[in-house]
Amino acid sequence: MEIKKTCVLGAGTMGSGIAQLIASHGFTVHLVDLNMEILNRAKEKIKRDIENFLVKKDKISREQAGDILNRILLFENRDEAIKGVDMVIEAIFEDMELKKGMFRDLDQKCDKKVILASNTSSLSITEIASEATHPERIIGLHFFNPAPIMKLIELIKGMNTSEETLNTTKNFAEQLNKVVVIVNDSPGFVTTRLIYVLCNEAINILREGVASVEEIDTACKLAFNFPMGPLELSDLVSNEIYLHIGEYLTKELGSKYLPSPLLKQMVNAGLLGRKTKKGFYKY
Ligand SMILES: NC(=O)c1ccc[n+]([C@@H]2O[C@H](COP(=O)([O-])OP(=O)(O)OC[C@H]3O[C@@H](n4cnc5c(N)ncnc54)[C@H](O)[C@@H]3O)[C@@H](O)[C@H]2O)c1
Repeated sequence: MEIKKTCVLGAGTMGSGIAQLIASHGFTVHLVDLNMEILNRAKEKIKRDIENFLVKKDKISREQAGDILNRILLFENRDEAIKGVDMVIEAIFEDMELKKGMFRDLDQKCDKKVILASNTSSLSITEIASEATHPERIIGLHFFNPAPIMKLIELIKGMNTSEETLNTTKNFAEQLNKVVVIVNDSPGFVTTRLIYVLCNEAINILREGVASVEEIDTACKLAFNFPMGPLELSDLVSNEIYLHIGEYLTKELGSKYLPSPLLKQMVNAGLLGRKTKKGFYKY
């Protein structure tokens, strides 16, 4: 099976980037969110990014930019948006109950040939699919931020995901010019589990007074050739998201993933990072 038309649920940071990426590769994409205000804001951001990073840098013409934007259609009504698509990519809030309910509903409404993918960065695909009648067409399709630029896609195979779903999704990801790694379902998969441990440990090192914020980040950047230090990254992703990931990994995998007490304090104090203009750094 070949994927031609897709629907992206959620027009936030990830959903809007994924829609831009898909439309840039010549596919029509239906972008869904709760209201037109969010959708229009998302499309304006996509337009600005295409203008600043592609048109102004002579990577594409203004006409091509217009064609990309025309391929992104906005929908408040999910039932309308899923009509006639080959794949639905979910990028709504990172909440198990919300995602489970969403996949139960999509499973009831979409033809059983339609692939249902989740962009979750940590939650179990098997559990997300647990209330669906056709869990074989449910898969994890984990993009990275910013989706149009980052090269990797982590494909997560749930316990019931079929080989056909895996192969079709892999082909689609490769058509988007991404490199795919295939992993079995496990909390945090490969990438989120590893990056959480690094960032959480950096926060513990800070808490113990071993080194300052700048020293920790500079050490990681220059010693390991990382483009960004772990505290800078935690601020970028949001300290709140790392706290949720840590709590989820602790619940599922054990106490070695316990979030640093300093991470909890930062979140309680509203120091979420770039989002609140204050985290480990000031913005
Ligand atoms: N931000 C990242 O760096 C990143 C990276 C990889 C994966 N993810 C994952 O992607 C998903 C989305 O993350 P995000 O950072 O884009 O979140 P976000 O908060 O920026 O966007 C989520 C969007 O979903 C919308 N939404 C919520 N419920 C909805 C519903 N029922 N129907 C339609 N739209 C709905 C919200 O209005 C919001 O616009 C999460 O599962 C997250 O773990 C995030």
